[in-house]
Amino acid sequence: MSTTKEIRSSFLDYFAKNGHEKVESSPLVPRNDPTLLFTNAGMVQFKNVFTGQEKRPYNRAVTTQKCVRAGGKHNDLENVGHTARHHTFFEMLGNFSFGDYFKDEAIELAWNLLTKGFGLSKDKLLVTIYHDDDEAANLWKKVAGLPDDRIIRIATSDNFWSMGDTGPCGPCSEIFYDHGESIPGGPPGSPDEDGDRFIEIWNLVFMQYEQLSKDQRENLPRPSIDTGMGLERLTAVLQGKHDNYDIDLMRHIIEASAEVSGVAPDGEFKVSHRVIADHLRSSSFLVADGVMPSNEGRGYVLRRIMRRAMRHAHILGAKDPMIWKLVPTLVDEMGEAFPELHRAQSLITETLKVEENQFKQTLDRGLKLLEDATEKLGSTEALPGDVAFKLYDTYGFPLDLTKDILRGQNRELDEAGFDAAMKKQKEAARAAWSGSGDAATETVWFDLHQKVGATEFLGYQTETAEGKTQAIIKDGKEVESVAEGDEVMVVLNQTSFYGESGGQQGDHGVLKMPGGFEMVVTDTQKKQDLVIHIGQVKKGALKNGDVVETHVDRRRRAKLRAHHSATHLLHEALRQELGDHVTQKGSLVAEDRLRFDFSHQKPMSEAELWAVERMVNDRIRINADVAVHLTTPEEAIEAGAMALFGEKYGDEVRVVSMGGLDEVKGAGRDYSTELCGGTHVARTGDIGFLKIVSEGGLAAGIRRIEAVAGEAALDYVNGREKLLAEAAHSLKISPNELAPRIHHLLDERKRLERELADTRKKLVSGGGGPAEEAEKVGDISLMARLLADVPPKDLKPMADEIKKKLKSGVIVLIANNDGKASIVVSVTDDLTGEISAVDLVRAGSEALGGKGGGGRSDMAQAGGPDGTKGADAVAAIKKLIAEGEVAAAR
Ligand code: SER
Repeated sequence: MSTTKEIRSSFLDYFAKNGHEKVESSPLVPRNDPTLLFTNAGMVQFKNVFTGQEKRPYNRAVTTQKCVRAGGKHNDLENVGHTARHHTFFEMLGNFSFGDYFKDEAIELAWNLLTKGFGLSKDKLLVTIYHDDDEAANLWKKVAGLPDDRIIRIATSDNFWSMGDTGPCGPCSEIFYDHGESIPGGPPGSPDEDGDRFIEIWNLVFMQYEQLSKDQRENLPRPSIDTGMGLERLTAVLQGKHDNYDIDLMRHIIEASAEVSGVAPDGEFKVSHRVIADHLRSSSFLVADGVMPSNEGRGYVLRRIMRRAMRHAHILGAKDPMIWKLVPTLVDEMGEAFPELHRAQSLITETLKVEENQFKQTLDRGLKLLEDATEKLGSTEALPGDVAFKLYDTYGFPLDLTKDILRGQNRELDEAGFDAAMKKQKEAARAAWSGSGDAATETVWFDLHQKVGATEFLGYQTETAEGKTQAIIKDGKEVESVAEGDEVMVVLNQTSFYGESGGQQGDHGVLKMPGGFEMVVTDTQKKQDLVIHIGQVKKGALKNGDVVETHVDRRRRAKLRAHHSATHLLHEALRQELGDHVTQKGSLVAEDRLRFDFSHQKPMSEAELWAVERMVNDRIRINADVAVHLTTPEEAIEAGAMALFGEKYGDEVRVVSMGGLDEVKGAGRDYSTELCGGTHVARTGDIGFLKIVSEGGLAAGIRRIEAVAGEAALDYVNGREKLLAEAAHSLKISPNELAPRIHHLLDERKRLERELADTRKKLVSGGGGPAEEAEKVGDISLMARLLADVPPKDLKPMADEIKKKLKSGVIVLIANNDGKASIVVSVTDDLTGEISAVDLVRAGSEALGGKGGGGRSDMAQAGGPDGTKGADAVAAIKKLIAEGEVAAAR
């Protein structure tokens, strides 16, 4: 008997042998379709290839596609566990032709694989076709030799496949397997077709059209093929089982669940084991593809799946979280085909454990509440909506979980009552809401969030995605459409753009629709869990509801990532170098730099800065993976994660660890572990290197470091080199000689200044001697000189020099240095009894537009703003000397 693994490989190999490219399964979160909650068919990743919008280097492909059908349009959640073939997660095997082969070869390939490859008896197979598809009928006759009664014409949409309301579509032909008379049920199209005897195993879609809108359909450029066969169903048939949960793969997980819980796999608790096995698969694959449990959108669907599984673990009597213990079995079964399970194994394990631990705390109390409430009800009376709402709101019971419990009691739930309670709570929240900051605009975002829900951020996984327009804001108001040139804000249901938060600046990039609308996004903000794309429409128009591609500016994002991860390493390095008192006080992560404010009392020394920079760069070069996982704030802090004091964290937090193991912290702890919602490099080596640019004081006890990383660090260092080169060039030496040369030049300059001062002194006091040049004011000799460009400090020594020769008299030296005046007055000792240098200098300074001046009676100095008034100052001094003489004579 073939195993599931072998059957999967046989399928892929068969089509590869027939010229098909083996293509990886696409992620469960569709990159190219924002209207789809999860990938739910193999053709989803090829949607644009069918329509001709996208080209691939092959025109035949084969895949095994991960699919989730939970939440949204195809929701199998409630049935899982109770039936033989419902799953939230399954694999869809499919072969595809993009304008290459069509109906005939598709039918032939499928028939040969089933009958020859897998050895199914022709008598066990029958097919359906779309009622008017004679071509398909003839081909089935020709290729398979099927009689007319085993080619069943169906007129309903069952045999016309379409992905959704729009997109590629076409008539299809389904292959059924007959499980035999022992099982009740009739062939497709018959009144008892819902029985379990005839089971559809393979759907061949003859893709011919593209549905553009409800009543507009176009031919595809070339007819194509899309087929889908559930691996679990096929395996059941090939392993002679009627129930998908009895195939080897599912059975191994169920047995593991039985072992961990200590409860027999079959019998009374069969349903619970099946639920756990199925939900383990969908939860693990969703987490591996980047979905995290949350209270909105995809995250909430995941949470619902997880909590439903947890309730069944509870039914099995599990005291401690148990689902995470099944992860190794799942990885053994499926890790080879889906290596992402290996990559994400620890993330999956942690996420399951955290969610189980958390829900455990309220599950028991919630169940008790429900029990008390139902006891009071009549045997068929519906559960009141407000009880269901309390379970939802206070105890974290998703509505479908409550319904699932009630299903066991054959009891309905008053959903209208639940909706009313929900509405009332929202209204109360709004009434209590008073926006922070600019209340009016904040309230706009609050209301919008209530209306459209949070924007889902896909940017941890991808830089390009598609999003559906939820709101367009122009001039502060919501509008239905915008046109070229408009400055707008756009909110989508999901986006790859990061909205500014946690210090990391928002993304830049482009929103566009192929061949039409284009908007350049110059800022992205985050308000009330909404991501707001801000920018200008450059081309075309945008209407509410339009689906746009979101293209993040990758270069900028890479630089932001490098600076953000570098900030984490810097934070830890500062703590290790300076001490645990270092905590983050603020941070900016920009494209071209980072800024980090932290508590520390004194300036950092050069040696400390170097040590920190070196430590960060050592950690960068270790180049270990950056790990991200989700946990509760308490557990994260317990495990040594750095959290920001006063910051509000939700029930669950994202923890980013990097830098490799830390020898000092030991116990398997990473160098840096922080709570953080930002985007980070995959490995620290991607940072390149870090250069600290400055360190300074910001406020009492708070320091600020600015640094650059990666490309910006290279630019910075290059800039520095250039400065050095320019300096060296102007001195005509090599940069290595700069320091000694500068010292030499400074010494040289000092020597020259000294020489210059001496020369000036000589010049002023030299010549025929001052006595000759002195003029007489009454009996007193006055020697006044107006000088240009003599430093004030040189005036006194010059005056002293003149004094030596003058013997008796007054010396006035006034320098005009770039329009500013300095004045020195010196009086020989024999005259100081009559005239004070201080009085004279004050008179002079006043004439120079200044005030005051000081010194002693034999030597005083002052300044003045007007260097051109030297002559006036001399005149004022003369006048004062003359008056003094007159006074003395009296
Ligand atoms: N798209 C079709 C389906 O989902 C065939 O793959 O059934």
